[in-house]
Amino acid sequence: MGIQYLPEKKVFLLHTKNTSYQFRAAEFGFLEHLYYGRRIQDCADYLPVRLRHGYEANPYEAEKDRTISLDVLEQEYPGFGVSDFKTPAVAVKNGDGSDCIDLRYVSHKIYEGKYTITDMPSLRENEGGWSTLEVLLRDFSSGIEVTLVYGVMEEYDIITRCARLCNTGEQEVFVHRAHSACVAFPTDKMDMISFYGSWGHERNMERMPVRHGKYTVDSTRGISSHYYNPSAVLCSHDATEHSGECYGIALVYSGNFAITAEVNDFKQTRIVAGINPDTLCWKLNPGESFQTPEAVMTYSSRGLTALSHNFHRIIKYHLIPKQFINRRCPVLINNWEATMIDFNEEQLIAIAEKAKALGVEMFVMDDGWFGRRTDEYRGLGDWQCNLMKIPSGIAGLSKRTHKLGMKFGIWIEPEMVNEDSRLYEEHPDWCICIPGRKPTRQRYQLVLDFTRDEVIDEIFNQLYAEFKDAEIDYVKWDMNRSMTERFSQQLPAERQGEVCHRYVLGVYKLMQRLTDAFPQIRLEGCCGGGGRFDMGMLYYAPQIWCSDDTDAIERIHIQYGTSFIYPPFTMGSHVSECPNQQTGRTVSIDTRAALAYFGTFGYELDPNELTDEEQEAVRKQIAYYCRHGMVSAFGDFYRLTNPEEEKEYAAFMSVAEDQKEAVLSYIQLVSGANKGIIYLKLEGLLDEAMYEIQELGITCSGAALMYAGLPMPVIKADNEARIYTLCAVQE
Ligand code: DGJ
Repeated sequence: MGIQYLPEKKVFLLHTKNTSYQFRAAEFGFLEHLYYGRRIQDCADYLPVRLRHGYEANPYEAEKDRTISLDVLEQEYPGFGVSDFKTPAVAVKNGDGSDCIDLRYVSHKIYEGKYTITDMPSLRENEGGWSTLEVLLRDFSSGIEVTLVYGVMEEYDIITRCARLCNTGEQEVFVHRAHSACVAFPTDKMDMISFYGSWGHERNMERMPVRHGKYTVDSTRGISSHYYNPSAVLCSHDATEHSGECYGIALVYSGNFAITAEVNDFKQTRIVAGINPDTLCWKLNPGESFQTPEAVMTYSSRGLTALSHNFHRIIKYHLIPKQFINRRCPVLINNWEATMIDFNEEQLIAIAEKAKALGVEMFVMDDGWFGRRTDEYRGLGDWQCNLMKIPSGIAGLSKRTHKLGMKFGIWIEPEMVNEDSRLYEEHPDWCICIPGRKPTRQRYQLVLDFTRDEVIDEIFNQLYAEFKDAEIDYVKWDMNRSMTERFSQQLPAERQGEVCHRYVLGVYKLMQRLTDAFPQIRLEGCCGGGGRFDMGMLYYAPQIWCSDDTDAIERIHIQYGTSFIYPPFTMGSHVSECPNQQTGRTVSIDTRAALAYFGTFGYELDPNELTDEEQEAVRKQIAYYCRHGMVSAFGDFYRLTNPEEEKEYAAFMSVAEDQKEAVLSYIQLVSGANKGIIYLKLEGLLDEAMYEIQELGITCSGAALMYAGLPMPVIKADNEARIYTLCAVQE
């Protein structure tokens, strides 16, 4: 059991294989954080130092002891208005209008197994190894209770957190803030790594020292968003890929979130993570509860690579749907970049037939198959096949595709409606907008009000009717706008602050219903590219379209940033046509594949327009991915270069879990006359094993490849890639 309680000291010790997390019920029941970091056996209750700091605020019970002050006592889950002046984890408006919340320890329980969260995704228990700690805190004036829940997965060095608020008082309260986790660090010398971006430019890694004051990454767009990812890393200034202390936190949540790091003058850093308080005001009647999303935390004393591996493993074995663990997605072709919305059945079949001849395993029909969808301005909300475009209907087209010997996938955008649609004509009140105000349009569409069950029922029924007689293997679930004018016409005024979170719960509800009804369907998440790339989505969709930017060179940055938290097999990654539609850049088809192999491999082009040479390349690529995709996409991923710093070349590799195979991708970004040789030091291999590098016809030990390195070729071209396949040989 990874959880221990020392009753005489009131200390909770959470242990994983390599980490320890400790806190205690301190004076007057304040829950005080003690330690998080590399595993220690000792009880860390010797760490807090009670000291007068001057101008300090003291709890009433402390009487004349002015050394006890929430100004410096690091609370596990700080409330508001009672002398902890840093960013709170929880804030409420009480029935009497006051805004204090003062949480004190009441009781706890420890049990084997993982707690459950009912209406939101969370890490799955699967084959076990979990233990749970629940600590009950109470504000004795208002009757608000908070249960802090900790899940400990020893083997994976993972600790999960969430909180349940319950109003046991007699008056209604409004919850303005309820974070999933708060963690304290007794140092002001840390860097924060976060992931920013925009459409076509998602998850750029940014690293900077945390300074006095607050730094927040967040979203108010209704989705986790392209702009910031709901994850962050705090690390020592000297942390590299292979050394230094790193703490990671990622939310299992797909809506408005906020992660704030704050540093004060007492050399303390606090990080809080959870639902964005700016768009939350949840009414809690007496007897009602509120559940926060789950936060997943991990620590590495060996740098960022080990930190990423902890996240990658937990996502692989405890987050994605069980039936897709270690099951690669069929190599697919998607018609979006080939046709956009404007297509008909015979065009699609022509793409599928040609793709099949090249070895593609699945055909995916993108946006444009339904309702009045002749352009981006109409049709969303009517999920009936447009028989003018697809005379055989979805059932017929899926069967035709299966007859070709291919699997069949389809695109949907179930959370949206166009004003030019039957659904909107019949139910104009079913979208999120404020009566009397003109709604903001984005891509000429509005967001459906998924806080309403009848809306979810209607969309489910439409999709069910369309899918039930069809042979559908894969669904790309898209979402193409931000939420504005947050308002639900079914909720009373005092509950409008619940819309954003209720919306996310509605999305999860529909995803659950659809995957329950069609368990064979593999979902791919999508949101105008990678605008909702988060652990909440990965619970339902084992892969997410990483970005609408399919340019291989830009993908180096996007996939690099994404890889800090998310493993390659979750990243939808396709070879698309050149000149690239987003950047106009042309790179060789091999360079495009050198990125796409490290994701769910596929194509986003018209195969009928490929030259003979390119067709031959595609055949070889598919054969390669079928043989080595379980290594390149599912192996342990190593970032060999930081593309934000190294501009001459980029390199990354994946190593099979048993370390017997590896795939290395090297991209020379800039060529130059008379260049020196780059010796690339590989990673993740076994020192003593001998690896044959198939493309070079040489065999070297893992030690040689990792410590002496491998000379990279000098290529007379920019943006040219090489793939190297390493296989351990028997001596
Ligand atoms: C945005 C997605 O990211 C694209 O791949 C494509 O599916 C379009 N939407 C379709 O509207």
